[in-house]
Amino acid sequence: MQKIVSLAKRRGFVFPGSEIYGGLANTWDFGPLGVELVNNVKQLWWHKFVKSRSDIVGISSSILMNPKVWEASGHVAGFSDPLVECKKCHTRHRADHLKEENGNKCPSCGGTEFTEEKQFSGMFKTSIGPAEDETSIVYLRPETAQGMFVNFKNVQQTARLKLPFGIAQIGKSFRNEITPRNFIFRVLEFEQMEIEYFIEEKGWEKHFDTWQKEMENWLADIGINKKNYVIREHDKDELSHYSKKTIDFEYQYPFGQKELYGLAYRTDFDLKAHKLSYEGMVPHVIEPTFGVERTILALLCDAYTEEKDRIVLKLKPALAPYKVAVFPLLANKPELIKKAKKVFDLLKDEFTTVWDARGNIGKRYYSQDEAGTPFCITVDFDSLDNNDVTIRDRDTMKQDRVSIDKLVDILKQKLK
Ligand code: GAP
Repeated sequence: MQKIVSLAKRRGFVFPGSEIYGGLANTWDFGPLGVELVNNVKQLWWHKFVKSRSDIVGISSSILMNPKVWEASGHVAGFSDPLVECKKCHTRHRADHLKEENGNKCPSCGGTEFTEEKQFSGMFKTSIGPAEDETSIVYLRPETAQGMFVNFKNVQQTARLKLPFGIAQIGKSFRNEITPRNFIFRVLEFEQMEIEYFIEEKGWEKHFDTWQKEMENWLADIGINKKNYVIREHDKDELSHYSKKTIDFEYQYPFGQKELYGLAYRTDFDLKAHKLSYEGMVPHVIEPTFGVERTILALLCDAYTEEKDRIVLKLKPALAPYKVAVFPLLANKPELIKKAKKVFDLLKDEFTTVWDARGNIGKRYYSQDEAGTPFCITVDFDSLDNNDVTIRDRDTMKQDRVSIDKLVDILKQKLK
């Protein structure tokens, strides 16, 4: 894991949050490459599940909602974790994680005696207005789902949708996790990509299976190796308060097999709770949910490859932060720089392109391999006479010479 954290920092994917002030535990910032990767994931997801379908529409709802939403949804009463304190070193832990992962030993000091379990709310609170009292309290949403449920009528009527149909949203969620850790796996602030798919109760199993396949297809689309995840159904006592059946897609992270995504049959729990209906009945819901940070972590783990003389991030080209890098062979030859700049200008409006003229060519390839850039274009002395360049393929390291006139089309074809 340390190798991935270190590459993520070195190349500008993920930085520790507020680092120059000593950090803020379990907050992370996406750097220049990280934000490109995140945006590519979100765009691909939105395209697959919203833009290319006629039965799903998107919304973007507020993070702050009327607190009554969270009372009705059951979160005020039920969204909590069991908290214990180590009697020896006084660190706090989630009781269920201690049992599962640490054999009931304190991960900080090895102590085995803990205080009684207390329920600890996972919702962050803040307040609206100048007076901080009970009436001003609002919560930062712990899931994007409720924004879609409370807008059910607005969306259904304005988009004139008939069952089955879905509402999708990508946005921030916040959870006051007791023992967040493992890099960006469990953080306080994260993004979710969620769909609430409204159906009739009869036949819910068929919709559930279809969504399971859709999620498997998504994982294949982004290049996650099937061998690296498993699907696990929740036991009855594990189910969330709203769910009748849930499966988790669990990824083999370097620190163990843990949840990546979830798929839940939420029944009619939420619409009933908000007293919402459709043509005299209350639709049931299948909910596929995808965490952005966990997607990024799984992608980094899956793509990270150590070869004899290099580290290479074998991301699918569609997701790679930069698609193309352009280099002049030598950084101190003005004629090469001039020609290479022309090539850069030709490509930059078509693809996310990066310029690199530092150090020697080998170092530049090394750095682009670590960034996951699928193609490197080099302008050398032959380019000046023949108006051509070399294209180097990240994975095979093979180089082809191609005419600059054909470069855009060739790259488009390769990146398809
Ligand atoms: N609306 C259903 C829901 O929120 P969840 O399983 O609690 O279900 C959905 O969360 C997804 O959100 C998870 O599968 C995971 O990808 C992501 N997630 C949840 N808590 C997280 C955290 N503390 N840090 C990062 N991602 C988190």
